[in-house]
Amino acid sequence: MNDYRLVRFLAIAPLFFLLSCNRLQKPVEKTNAKDLMTIKKDYYGNAGDSNVYLYTLKNNKGLEVAITNYGGIITSILAPDREGHFEDVVLGFDSLGGYLSGHPYFGCIVGRYANRIARGKFELDGKIYKLATNNGPNHLHGGEEGFDKKIWKATDIVKSDSVYLVLEYTSPDGEEGYPGNLDVKVTYVLNNENELKIYYEAQCDKPTPVNLTNHSYFNLAGAGSGNILDHELMIEADKYTVVDETLIPTGELRPVENTPMDFKNSKKIGKDLDQVKGGFDHNFVLNNKGKFSKVAEAFEPISRRVLEVFTSEPGIQFYSGNFLDGTETGKNNKTYHKHYGFCLETQHFPDSPNHPEFPEVILTPGEIYQHQTMYKFSTRKE
Ligand code: GLA
Repeated sequence: MNDYRLVRFLAIAPLFFLLSCNRLQKPVEKTNAKDLMTIKKDYYGNAGDSNVYLYTLKNNKGLEVAITNYGGIITSILAPDREGHFEDVVLGFDSLGGYLSGHPYFGCIVGRYANRIARGKFELDGKIYKLATNNGPNHLHGGEEGFDKKIWKATDIVKSDSVYLVLEYTSPDGEEGYPGNLDVKVTYVLNNENELKIYYEAQCDKPTPVNLTNHSYFNLAGAGSGNILDHELMIEADKYTVVDETLIPTGELRPVENTPMDFKNSKKIGKDLDQVKGGFDHNFVLNNKGKFSKVAEAFEPISRRVLEVFTSEPGIQFYSGNFLDGTETGKNNKTYHKHYGFCLETQHFPDSPNHPEFPEVILTPGEIYQHQTMYKFSTRKE
């Protein structure tokens, strides 16, 4: 470069820098004019050297779901009550910083294996695999740095009747001790029926256990407004997996009938909670026989908001927010105390790699791991 060119380059370089920053910070919105559905992309912050974005999906009823490509976290869901007042019904933080500094899996995609694997060990094709023991003696939610802490490649799509956020991540062979490369795709879809669908897909190049879920904490009265003990809950499950004191299944599938675990008829979450040591944190064996169908419904009597859960998965972890202890300051400076949120994590059974009698969780090369879950929001009239 001669002197003249160098001077010219130095003069315009800052301009290019400013322009690119501006492009980074500037929200980009795509609209489907006919059905008034939008998806907006905002710069959300940085995780290390990577830019992180927040995608806001909105339908023609005004229901809004915000998702970041950091951990695939659903950061907010604005849903109407019976009077049409919108409230954020999931726990989380106001900004990326809250998620980066550690949290109990608010809203995220959990993997490679959601829930627990006893002693962080399993045997596959004669080989013992060792995983992190990050939950007492056990492995939980994919280990030290599970899918909840990864930056996912994001593609936003507007279709005629729905808006899509496609998230992709390749988990390398050996990551967190798991065998084989795993290509994962999670697609969030919002439509005008106030349905948020989540499609999970994965493919591997070596046999590996896979169990993916979303870990949203719901409070249908509004995040941070109080506890969820008056929510009424129904779960379509005749049985649950009995666990030991470290929450590992013993292998027994016990009928829920005449026990505090019976949610076949809707009842208040708080009704029998005291009879369950530590609170609800159990896998329910769903009656859906692997078919995509309604498996749970939660109802909040004051706002009259309803959340219905549909899935093709064989189990659901109902967790009553037992470990929330007021140390988390969430959105709008609200503090999340014990039982301020509940999770309905659709899944395969915990510790399945060590329970050959449970539905299969080993994915083999050439197979496609696939399942679908849907959260549907509505209100009850009377
Ligand atoms: C899951 C587990 C709970 C707890 C939460 C995160 O739901 O089953 O025991 O670990 O995640 O705090």
